[in-house]
Amino acid sequence: MTDPIVVAEGLRKSFGDTHALQGLDLSVPQGTVCGVLGPNGAGKTTAVRILATLSVPDTGHARIAGYDVVREAGQVRANIGLAGQYAAVDEKLSGRANLRMFGRLYHLPRRQAYRRADELLERFGLMDAADRPVLGYSGGMRRRLDLITCLILRPQVLFLDEPTTGLDPRSRGEIWDSVRELVADGTTVLLTTQYLDEADQLADDIAVIDHGRVIATGTPDELKAVIGDRLDVTLEDPAALPAAMGVLNALTGADPAATGAGRLSVALPGGRLRLADVVRELDHAGVAAADVTLRRPTLDEVFLRLTDRKETVR
Ligand SMILES: Nc1ncnc2c1ncn2[C@@H]1O[C@H](COP(=O)(O)OP(=O)(O)OP(=O)(O)O)[C@@H](O)[C@H]1O
Ligand SMILES: [Mg+2]
Repeated sequence: MTDPIVVAEGLRKSFGDTHALQGLDLSVPQGTVCGVLGPNGAGKTTAVRILATLSVPDTGHARIAGYDVVREAGQVRANIGLAGQYAAVDEKLSGRANLRMFGRLYHLPRRQAYRRADELLERFGLMDAADRPVLGYSGGMRRRLDLITCLILRPQVLFLDEPTTGLDPRSRGEIWDSVRELVADGTTVLLTTQYLDEADQLADDIAVIDHGRVIATGTPDELKAVIGDRLDVTLEDPAALPAAMGVLNALTGADPAATGAGRLSVALPGGRLRLADVVRELDHAGVAAADVTLRRPTLDEVFLRLTDRKETVR
């Protein structure tokens, strides 16, 4: 086992009365994707900015590739790339010109900067649009360009702050493919997201943060296992919902949630309940079920449970 390439211990950061980080710990093994998942205001961007040396913590410390983010910020910067929550490219310039400009800003010799720009445009599917002003790019293309400007110096660790927020499904898929390509090359990625499916798709490990601290960590499957399986029931007659809720509550000890007309869902904390028992008990109560299914929870349900918000009723 090698040491984790990103380590944060007890990071705290306040802005006046706002305690953005309240003792955040993170540990990311080299070559993996860590998904930092949290609702608005959870502290994701604050954490990324500290790890990327753009801000300093009040207390606590963090190391990237062994370098301290405060005392050795220069070495940290030489090893990382950061694509912020808001795009940094110049809209009036073409994609190619942006990449060349960043290459020069990073002190690459002109010829090398030009060659690297072309390599990246080719590799990440932007060559056809290379000479058009970024102004005319789609949101997805723009994000991809933003992402590849971070790759000019081949960083060991890449921070992506909400890389797909506001993108349509196809553009999100393209960004996901780009991230997978990077990881195949050995880059370690720490990405923040509010999208559960994004973390499910990309992350080896997930750290769920809320109110500035990590409230759960694990692989997507481990997190799903934490809250146990779910039981979904569809009733023949929606009017039987209250009776069905009573039966399910008695069987599981948990509060069922109505998930639609005549549909309810309940967590099975122990995970041990036979479908036959459910059907029989409903039957005894005079409730006819059209469908009873046992399933793994979605990451959404895990997240809602962990962040202690009411489960959505649709
Ligand atoms: N520079 C700042 N000055 C004052 N308050 C700040 C500053 N930066 C962050 N905050 C506050 O700290 C808290 C955490 O903010 P942060 O941007 O880290 O959240 P986030 O998880 O990235 O949220 P989002 O999903 O909306 O991007 C919020 O309450 C925010 O208002
Ligand atoms: Mg943010």
